[in-house]
Amino acid sequence: MSKRLISFTHKMLEEYITSESVVVDATAGNGHDTAFLAEIAGHVFAFDVQEEALKSTRERLRTSGLSNVTLIHDSHENIPLHIYKDVDAAVFNLGYLPGSDKALTTKRETTLAAIENVLELIVPGGLVAVTAYTGHNEGKEEARAVTDFAESLPKDAYKVSVYKFLNRLDAPFTLFIEKLK
Ligand SMILES: C[S@@+](CC[C@H](N)C(=O)[O-])C[C@H]1O[C@@H](n2cnc3c(N)ncnc32)[C@H](O)[C@@H]1O
Repeated sequence: MSKRLISFTHKMLEEYITSESVVVDATAGNGHDTAFLAEIAGHVFAFDVQEEALKSTRERLRTSGLSNVTLIHDSHENIPLHIYKDVDAAVFNLGYLPGSDKALTTKRETTLAAIENVLELIVPGGLVAVTAYTGHNEGKEEARAVTDFAESLPKDAYKVSVYKFLNRLDAPFTLFIEKLK
């Protein structure tokens, strides 16, 4: 995980999130993003397929005194089965849980389905941030697919930008998709 990339991504999210906001963390992992979001938003829905990740996130939230989070043990493409509200922002931090089974990484098809589904719930003026890693094969394919998808979005409905260190080989990056209408 690149600290500078995550810190920039968080700064960008801060521009879109208020204490009234409903936000989604599509990949809870160890809960760093979930805790950051819970500090600044009204409510956070955090997903992960691994019970171990949710346990770690639950513990981080408990020690930080944060209770405005619903933890959901399900794959993120099922977001519409769990959330019946407008969503102001969503975060995807792709890849695998550091220090755990690398086979349990996010996958191209489900990631794309999840991004499409969450874009349906996002309010105009809302933001989806997707951090992708290209240092492993599965990640490279996924990063390419997510970039292709973002590039194909109609420019009158979405503003798409990317933050990436261009002078680093296989640099991870964050895509920002802002819904305009
Ligand atoms: C890079 S970690 C996320 C790091 C996390 N945001 C943090 O701040 O600690 C990626 C997480 O995505 C989870 N994941 C993989 N496939 C998923 C899926 N289909 N739906 C939801 N979570 C998934 C993994 O279990 C892993 O915990």
